[in-house]
Formats: sequence, structure tokens, C-alpha cells
Amino acid sequence: NCNLKTIIVFVACSALVPSSSLFCSTSLRLACLSPSQAADITIERNTACKPKPDPSTLLFGKQFSDHMLTINWSEKDGWEAPQIKPFQNLSLHPASSALHYSIELFEGMKAYRGVDNHIRLFRPMLNMERMHRSANRSSLPLFDKGELLECIKKLVDIDQEWVPYSQEASLYIRPTYIGTEPSLGVSRPGKAMIFVIISPVGPYFATGSFNPVSLLADPAFVRAWKGGVGAYKMGNYGPTIAVQSEAVRRGCQQVLWLYGEDEQITEVGTMNLFIYWTNKEGKELVTPPLDGIILPGVTRQSLLDLGRSWGEFKVTERTMDMKELLGALDAGRVLEVFGAGTACVVCPVGSLLYKGKTYQIPTMQNGPDLAKRFYKELTDIQYGRTPSEWAPLVV
Ligand SMILES: Cc1ncc(COP(=O)(O)O)c(C=O)c1O
Repeated sequence: NCNLKTIIVFVACSALVPSSSLFCSTSLRLACLSPSQAADITIERNTACKPKPDPSTLLFGKQFSDHMLTINWSEKDGWEAPQIKPFQNLSLHPASSALHYSIELFEGMKAYRGVDNHIRLFRPMLNMERMHRSANRSSLPLFDKGELLECIKKLVDIDQEWVPYSQEASLYIRPTYIGTEPSLGVSRPGKAMIFVIISPVGPYFATGSFNPVSLLADPAFVRAWKGGVGAYKMGNYGPTIAVQSEAVRRGCQQVLWLYGEDEQITEVGTMNLFIYWTNKEGKELVTPPLDGIILPGVTRQSLLDLGRSWGEFKVTERTMDMKELLGALDAGRVLEVFGAGTACVVCPVGSLLYKGKTYQIPTMQNGPDLAKRFYKELTDIQYGRTPSEWAPLVV
């Protein structure tokens, strides 16, 4: 059935739009993940389940649940039935394209155990859509987003005891997609695998209060560039680690990524950046626009949506540069600077090391009222304290 669909789509595409063969080939691959895919899932239960860790002892990404999800694809046979099976090592051909050419991508999302003991995800289709865009950019076959989400929900359901019984911890979900083509040609892989592993994670702010971070802003380092892949969550994170280590060596905790001659402010570490300040027209929340060098964060989108729905201050997506930020700091107009991401929701910024000088940022002195309000609003939704369509139930 899958192959028949493939042939029909391929013939239709070739006949009608000969110039768009890339998109024809991706759409025929899409056709291969049939709507019944999640229903076809096979489950092999782990007979040696591990004890669940104490939520207060968890470190990020160090412990994994009892099961994992895998879905294999090949050019020849299309998508195989998804499998949930005991957590185990992968067996890969040493020439696999993920290992040589970084034909790989990933997502980061969470499941939360609510006050009512129900388990919720947070805007998971935004992760599926981002993963789908990353797959297209990585020349990996496309997949049905809704079906993959159903498979992920099933995995979380099976390992539901791994979702911490805590409103300060959560279950991190790592969907991953790799090229497994067993040959060294630099070409579109003929074999690929989606796998999903899940890991209980503890509170980001262990003390329960915000800890402000210090940033290194050095224009010598660039995370992403126009025409590149900064807008995708794919194999370009490795090279940022040496820069992160350089920030630590210079006494900072994270990197403020700058871009271009005018030193545009783009992102902070692996978070989107927000500045809340006053200007001539009053209070404004600003974040850089999705111009190709910014990762379209789920948290970023949620803060923009919330801020706009409140209608209490201007919410703007526009480019900002170092000159503008330093000028505003100097004039005492900056109220709060914070990062936003799934890991911490919001993360206040306390200082900036730029060209050998440290600039203090008064985020903590100003509450931080807005960062705290965003944190509360989002965590209330995630832990079921505020009902919201942003938080669909798993169980
Ligand atoms: C570079 C980068 N920016 C921003 C984010 C925040 O995105 P999200 O809110 O979807 O976690 C992430 C994390 O995924 C990231 O890797």
C-alpha cells in the first residue's frame, strides 16, 4: 500500500511539476507514513524496570527511562512499524551518514505531572512542526507529525512512572532523527531512523528562586548566519561547546551570540533572548525576529503570545545590536534581560562581559517582575494549575 502510494505520488509529481523533483521526492516519502502508523506500533515490555530516581537528585540527561521508541525508514520499504522496546544501545554501521556528515536532528520537549496527577505535554505540535522543517533541511524523509506525536505519547504513557511526582521536575523528551545510510557518499540517505528517549530532569533553579547568569559577548564567535541552519535544531550544536568553554574560562556562564558587522544580539546559550525596557513610547518587550539565524523556540512563541494577549506593553520582534543595548543600559532604560527555553522557561541575565568590560544588568533589581510572571503563567499551564489548550493530556 505504501509503495503503491509512493508510485502514484511520484508519477503525479514527475508528470506535473518536473522542476520540483526534490519536493516530489519528499512528498512521496511523506506519503509513506500512513495515518495508521501509530496504531501499528509494536510494544516489547522491559522485564527489568529500574527504580525511579528521587526528583531532587536528578541531573540533566543522565538517567533514562525503561523504554525507547524507534521507527526505521528505508528508500526501498518506506517506514516500518514504530517499535517501543526496552531502552538499549543502537547498533549502527560505521559508515552511517549521521556519524560522518551530521545528517541528524533532534527536538527537546517535556512531559509534566500536574497537580491533578494527569500528565501533560506543552504545545507539542510546535516541536513536531520544527522537527519536520529540520528533516526537510537535513534531506531526511518527511513524516506525519500527528502520527509521530501519537507514538511519543504512547512511549510516555508506558513509562508514565518516570514522570517525576514533583511540580519542580519533569520528563525531558528527546526525539532524534538520524541518517543511517551505510555508505560514505555525501548524498541523501537511503536509510534513516527516528528514535525517542526520555529522561527525568530536576528543577533548573535548584534553590527555587531565579539565579541570574553572566554572559560573554564576543563578536569573534558566531553561532549561525544568514542562509545557514541556525533556524533548525540539527547537527550544528557541537561547535558551540568550545565557545561555551571559552565563556567559562573567562568567568562567564553562557554565551551571548552576536552576528554581523553591527554585532546584532541573537540568542543566549541555547535560549532565545528577550529584553524588556522603556523607550520613548513606554515599556517594550523585544526579541530578535525569525530571520533565519534564530531558533524558533516554543517558549519564545509562548512569551510573545502571552505578552501580546495581556496588551500591557509593546511586544516587538526586531533586530537589536550591542550599541543599542549598551546605550539603553547607560541611560538606565533596561528593566530585564532574560533567556527563554524549555529547560528553564525563563533565565534572568545579570551581567555581560564585552570587549574586556563587565556591564551589570539590573534584571534581579527589577524583580524580575516580567520574567517571574512569565515563569508562573507557563508553569501553571504545564502543571495543570491553569487549564489551557496549550497543554494536551497524555494520561
Ligand atoms: C539555539 C536555541 N535557541 C532557543 C532554544 C529554545 O527553544 P525552546 O523554547 O523550543 O526550548 C533552544 C532549545 O531548543 C535552542 O537550542
